[in-house]
Amino acid sequence: MALSSDTSKTMPPGARRAPPCTLVIFGAHGDLTKRLLMPALYNLVGNGLLDDGFRIIGVDRVDSTTAQWRDGLADMMQSFTRNPNAEFHPASINAQQWDWLAQRLEYVQADFSDADALRQLGAKLPGNAIFYLAIPSRFFATVVETLGTAGVVTQKEGVFRRVVIEKPFGSDLASAQELNRRVLSVLEESQVFRIDHFLGKETVQNILAMRFGNLIFEPLWRNEYVDHVEITAAETIGVEQRGAFYEPTGALRDMVPNHLFQLFAMVAMEPPNTFDAESVRNAKEQLFEAVTPIDPKDAVRGQYAAGTVEGKPMVGYRESPGVAPHSNTETYVALKLHVDNWRWAGVPFYLRTGKGLGGRRTEVVVQFRKPPMLMFRETETEELPPNRIILNIQPAQGLTVELGAKKPGPEMDLTNVQARFRYEDVFAKSPNVGYETLLYDCLMGDETLFQRADNIEAAWKAVDPVLQAWAKDTAGPELYEAGTTGPRGADELLHRDGRAWYPLDRA
Ligand code: BG6
Repeated sequence: MALSSDTSKTMPPGARRAPPCTLVIFGAHGDLTKRLLMPALYNLVGNGLLDDGFRIIGVDRVDSTTAQWRDGLADMMQSFTRNPNAEFHPASINAQQWDWLAQRLEYVQADFSDADALRQLGAKLPGNAIFYLAIPSRFFATVVETLGTAGVVTQKEGVFRRVVIEKPFGSDLASAQELNRRVLSVLEESQVFRIDHFLGKETVQNILAMRFGNLIFEPLWRNEYVDHVEITAAETIGVEQRGAFYEPTGALRDMVPNHLFQLFAMVAMEPPNTFDAESVRNAKEQLFEAVTPIDPKDAVRGQYAAGTVEGKPMVGYRESPGVAPHSNTETYVALKLHVDNWRWAGVPFYLRTGKGLGGRRTEVVVQFRKPPMLMFRETETEELPPNRIILNIQPAQGLTVELGAKKPGPEMDLTNVQARFRYEDVFAKSPNVGYETLLYDCLMGDETLFQRADNIEAAWKAVDPVLQAWAKDTAGPELYEAGTTGPRGADELLHRDGRAWYPLDRA
């Protein structure tokens, strides 16, 4: 069935339809497929961006038929309409749009590491194919090697074969290097799409637009004017049912060398020559190479104990399913990064992320130095508040600038005011879950928003001394009560530099 004019007329201006392709999803019954990939594909159908020759083959070990898989996904899509907390929460599911996708679904029951099964699967793939590894990370290398043995990732003239690898990509520098080595013994770098879903967020992509699409920020974006930068990803959710994954992982591995480093790259990298994949990834690499490996003294870890989050009781991390009763896994981390380059020498970058905190906020705060003299010292104004630019990533989306302004009245009294840009005030609300751009870019062969092998390794290299020190340190993380702003050690990290975090618990 061709895309109806109804659905295709929403194609974004200037966009091109992706080439025909079979998307093979390993982990067809998994959470990621249901929660994010299917809604993203549905949204791409709605935008008319998928070709008539697009198909999806779901692969999993679970005993199931195509009809059962498809019906299960259809139910799931409907359930999102009733769940305001789902990443995808449309008012209704458009039947025509869903049918377009549903009739292109096929389920294959197979073991990912069975070369014969993958060979048979290969016979179903006449042309372009993308293999999406939505499976636990311990299978990544084996599955790629098996795809190689089965001969299904060999590209021919005019036919692409690509592999999408989810995070976590390695668990330290050595394992990331080993995984890259094994993957790149089968595939060309240009066939590998290492996902970091933060790069699918509009507000993250917008950081580059703000920085390089406007002249007013760039002259100030350097050590002459910037005092320090804070990058925060605070979550209210706890570990919930993910204890088995989280126990050997912890907040540092889960969030820092991937998501927070991507935010850091967007904020701190030099302007790339163009917006093509290699220029952008070269600019990131140049930045990451300038990061001094983190001194363990500049890293703080915490773990949430029982508390109350947003009015609801939360059990302590150690009481969660799949978690050891004396676990030393950190659910919070704060770090200081030094960047040894011309632009940023002397400007600390403070990174923090944690679960079970009092508020949900992902944001970047660029705090500027104070004016060189206090011109208003004879007046009511004793101390001028510093200027800040706050890049609101989520749930608030936009940009806030904090400025000093004169309070109306006879005295020269300055106060802090905010100038705000909010997405919701300017743009229509999008149903997108963030994977749309990533899937579309992969179909188009655009790797700009995907991580190159060297970028991944450079990020692990920066955090590796901390991982090693923590593995040896039996003292463990500082406990913090769930629903608060995190461990006291994180505040001390900044206090000892004469600074304080931009408050998490503000209105
Ligand atoms: C995932 C982590 O990669 O990112 C989770 O494994 C974390 O622990 C999540 O909650 C945060 O992503 P988002 O898009 O909800 O901010």
